[in-house]
Amino acid sequence: MSDARPLFKRVAIIGLGLIGGSLAAAIRSNGLAQTVVGADKRREEADLGKQLGIIDEVAASVQDAVQGADLVVLAVPVKATRAVLEELRPWFGENAILTDVGSTKTSFVEDVKAVFGSLPANVIPGHPIAGSEKSGIRAANRELFRNHKVILTPADAVDNSDVARLKSLWEGCGATVLTMSVAYHDEVLAATSHLPHLIAFSLVDTLAGEDENLDIFRYAAGGFRDFTRIAASDPVMWHDIFLSNREAVLRVIDHFSHDLDRLRTAIADQDSATLLQVFSRAKAAREHFSKMLSGQAYVTKNPQKQVTFRLQPGGCVNGDIRVPGDKSISHRSIMLGALANGVTEVKGFLEGEDSLATLQAFRDMGVTIEGPDAGYVKIHGVGIHGLQAPRGPLYLGNSGTAMRLFSGLLAAQNFDSELTGDDSLTKRPMGRVADPLRAMGAVIETGEGGRPPLKIRGGQTLTGIHYDMPVASAQVKSCLLLAGLYAKGLTSVTEPAPTRDHTERMLEGFGYHVHRDAATSSVAGGGQLTAAAIDVPADISSAAFFLVAASIAPESDLTIRHVGMNPTRIGVINILRSMGANIEVLDERVIGGEPVADLRVRSAELSGIDIPEDQVPLAIDEFPVLFIAAVCARGRTVLRGAEELRVKESDRIQVMADGLKAVGVETTVTPDGIVIDGGQQMQGGVVNSHGDHRIAMAFSVASLRATDVIEVNDCANVATSFPDFVELARRTGIRIDAEGEE
Ligand code: S3P
Repeated sequence: MSDARPLFKRVAIIGLGLIGGSLAAAIRSNGLAQTVVGADKRREEADLGKQLGIIDEVAASVQDAVQGADLVVLAVPVKATRAVLEELRPWFGENAILTDVGSTKTSFVEDVKAVFGSLPANVIPGHPIAGSEKSGIRAANRELFRNHKVILTPADAVDNSDVARLKSLWEGCGATVLTMSVAYHDEVLAATSHLPHLIAFSLVDTLAGEDENLDIFRYAAGGFRDFTRIAASDPVMWHDIFLSNREAVLRVIDHFSHDLDRLRTAIADQDSATLLQVFSRAKAAREHFSKMLSGQAYVTKNPQKQVTFRLQPGGCVNGDIRVPGDKSISHRSIMLGALANGVTEVKGFLEGEDSLATLQAFRDMGVTIEGPDAGYVKIHGVGIHGLQAPRGPLYLGNSGTAMRLFSGLLAAQNFDSELTGDDSLTKRPMGRVADPLRAMGAVIETGEGGRPPLKIRGGQTLTGIHYDMPVASAQVKSCLLLAGLYAKGLTSVTEPAPTRDHTERMLEGFGYHVHRDAATSSVAGGGQLTAAAIDVPADISSAAFFLVAASIAPESDLTIRHVGMNPTRIGVINILRSMGANIEVLDERVIGGEPVADLRVRSAELSGIDIPEDQVPLAIDEFPVLFIAAVCARGRTVLRGAEELRVKESDRIQVMADGLKAVGVETTVTPDGIVIDGGQQMQGGVVNSHGDHRIAMAFSVASLRATDVIEVNDCANVATSFPDFVELARRTGIRIDAEGEE
């Protein structure tokens, strides 16, 4: 028993089966109530409960249990609910809370209304998503709910403090509590629990009916065993559940039968495209679904893990490396490949979480995509009007680029869509794309303050506009150009300063003409895209960490191969060179419309500079690591005109200043930049990266010139842009270890 004051005085549990018994055991063992009293119409079960120490008291009747209880939990079979409610009604106190644990919530609410005449404010339906094929009080397990979800479906009129108490009770049993509406609960459960049970029951029954069934079961592989485990669940309980959640279950059965039929037809017709499409989409969804459910960034091997980087001070940086593919180009390769006619093959694709989120979203819209396999992706384009409505919100993880570019594309489709993302993305401004898209005729709803989620209404006719961008943003420009492919007439965008032009170049590569005149890019709607081969260069934004690393660490000499050298991206090279860096650009060539080169960088004495404002958009993602270069330089570095940094994956000005302070470096933060006096000695310290990949990598580079260990927290998102950073960094000489990784 814990010392904390129990949440409830007397909890009455009616029905001591697996769930009721487990809840009683969990409440007792966690000291959440003074007394747990149990009632069950099978008296011997209740007596056994007392004997096993699962309940404190056996109640002789429902009346006996409920009188004086401040929490009543109904844990009887769904079909018995109404009768038990009749029995308890006269004794149920006004100040008590009544809840249940049934799998269907509409039927519980209907039963309560039938018995009480309405849904009293102190009735809070509940459903723990936990169970076992075992039943009865002997199977009670006080750990049953630990790390499981419990759904509460409170009505609007409910007293919030009651919900909070009930929530604390379940949390005290180790569960995580979610709240949702009754109807939504029943729809979700029909799809995720009831249908799978039905299929398992049905399949085992079908096979057991076959003559050679013994052989079938004898030879059944592990997959069959896993898949049919739930067919051993309690038949009466499931009978009740299907009849109580009849309508939602019928809807999902119809949906499933339709899709199963489609697969049948595809097999009969030897329709490989459909089979591949469905299987690859399902495979990817299955691999990533835990991540989607946890609402974090898209793919990682280990969804909930917290990753910490530990960096030993010092070292030098040497070798010959290639960093992963360019993130911006990888996103666009999937988008244009999907919308093209024909098959697009991509080499060097970035298998980071951000670009994988884009890839999955297109699979969700019916595009068959093979891979990625060591950077190779094959996209079976569906044509500019070939996307299909996704079945649910498109989850874009941490990726602002994906959300902004998608918004333009989806505003022009004939289906509705919703775009969501992780915690960081949910804080980022989307008005900058929603406003001009609305001016084109799009119908878009944003969350509070113009933030995600974005709800986009399909079926609108868009009309081209001219847009003078107030901020220099390639994402906004690209969003409008993509919408412009579908709009009537001409869509043109003028930028206040040059921004990356990968969209324009790749559209041209796919045979779609983009008219470019100084700061303005325009497209005429109504054309088609033709599949093209894409060779994604290594990402200069990822190379930047190593450019700075080899510059600041003594005795360094590093070559980085095949780096994208698009003139709209090379701000980091220009800035570092003005600071005195020794960077050689070797073997310049053009591959698939993008300039590429090898870079050789050696240690150099850096000097602080006033960073020219025209370089800011050209180095926008590289500032975190450029700040580290500035700390190591002689003299003062001043950055201005970079307020955009405040709305990236984190507020990169403030988060970098805080991180630098943690390692003993003082800076002056201004609204649109920072002043850094170079020559300050970095020490050790604990840095919070705020889940921002580039902050985490920048402080990894900082360790080369620190005097003590630097620990960087919250680094899992490095996988959004640079999946093998730790290994590659270690290979070059950075003394990095990641904790919390697989
Ligand atoms: C990107 C554009 C930039 C950049 C981002 C990728 C793109 O964002 O910071 O990492 O791929 O178009 P803004 O357009 O918001 O500046």
